[in-house]
Amino acid sequence: MPTTPDQPTSDPADYRAVNRAMWDDRAPAHAASPDYGFDRFIADPAHLSDVVRFDLPRLPDVRGLRGLHLQCHIGTDTLSLHRLGARMTGLDLSPASLEQARRLAAATGSDIGYVESDVYGAVDVLGRQAFDLVFTGVGALCWLPDIRRWARTVADLLRPGGRLFLREGHPMLWALADARPDGLLVVEYPYFETAAPLVFDEPGTYVETDLPLTVNLSHSWNHGLGETITALMDAGLTLTALEEHDSVPWEALVGQMDKGPDGEYQLRDRPERVACSYTLQAVKAS
Ligand SMILES: C[S@@+](CC[C@H](N)C(=O)[O-])C[C@H]1O[C@@H](n2cnc3c(N)ncnc32)[C@H](O)[C@@H]1O
Repeated sequence: MPTTPDQPTSDPADYRAVNRAMWDDRAPAHAASPDYGFDRFIADPAHLSDVVRFDLPRLPDVRGLRGLHLQCHIGTDTLSLHRLGARMTGLDLSPASLEQARRLAAATGSDIGYVESDVYGAVDVLGRQAFDLVFTGVGALCWLPDIRRWARTVADLLRPGGRLFLREGHPMLWALADARPDGLLVVEYPYFETAAPLVFDEPGTYVETDLPLTVNLSHSWNHGLGETITALMDAGLTLTALEEHDSVPWEALVGQMDKGPDGEYQLRDRPERVACSYTLQAVKAS
């Protein structure tokens, strides 16, 4: 689709500007969506995001930890970790997302620091070895072209003995074509990291909203599970847990998934066919 003159071009070198414009456009709609549930966070001081609640059985005790949420978006997972007792900083590329995150923190009386930066610039902004915990939530890594550079950044941000906690969409899910009427799961996109981005220009978003979305161009990349794990090991982290899940927190294959009481979506037909997300934990050597 042709881009409108006020949008960034689809030049891959410009991927940050392209993606920032897309996320800035979506941030107010996401903050107003019942799926992100700002109202529930404000009404109930114990409320946690579905993403963080899903991983409660796996999360370490985060009380008192200096935590960094990379690609924090509008801050619902960041606030949830704050509510579990971590001293949180959130980092994101999108100023409009951070505006919503700060608004939610203020409305809930939560002391959370938010920083505008590219992930790859996080060490310059926040310093080396400044965190006990780096957290990254669903739908983050696909916006980064180089998983090895991401892993080195995480390692540099963590103090010796510090931990990474990652919940992500599974690269096998990202490789699938949109839902088909025959229910078959068809591999259409790369599983492995590629030099060139996937360029999409699609309306809509992954949460319910009535608000108009006008900036739809994006650049993204897949990263195979082995590539991600190897990148972390090469950066000096040791894998301590890896669990693949048959569910995700949004309807990734539209029309083929059912939502469970935990807010997670699972394939209606034979969910054992494909891993939809994973939780990975790693520790930096002491
Ligand atoms: C799908 S959202 C993150 C989702 C998050 N788990 C949530 O639901 O709140 C992706 C976020 O990554 C951010 N992002 C994309 N590329 C980035 C980059 N290079 N550096 C920092 N943040 C980036 C976007 O601005 C957006 O807020």
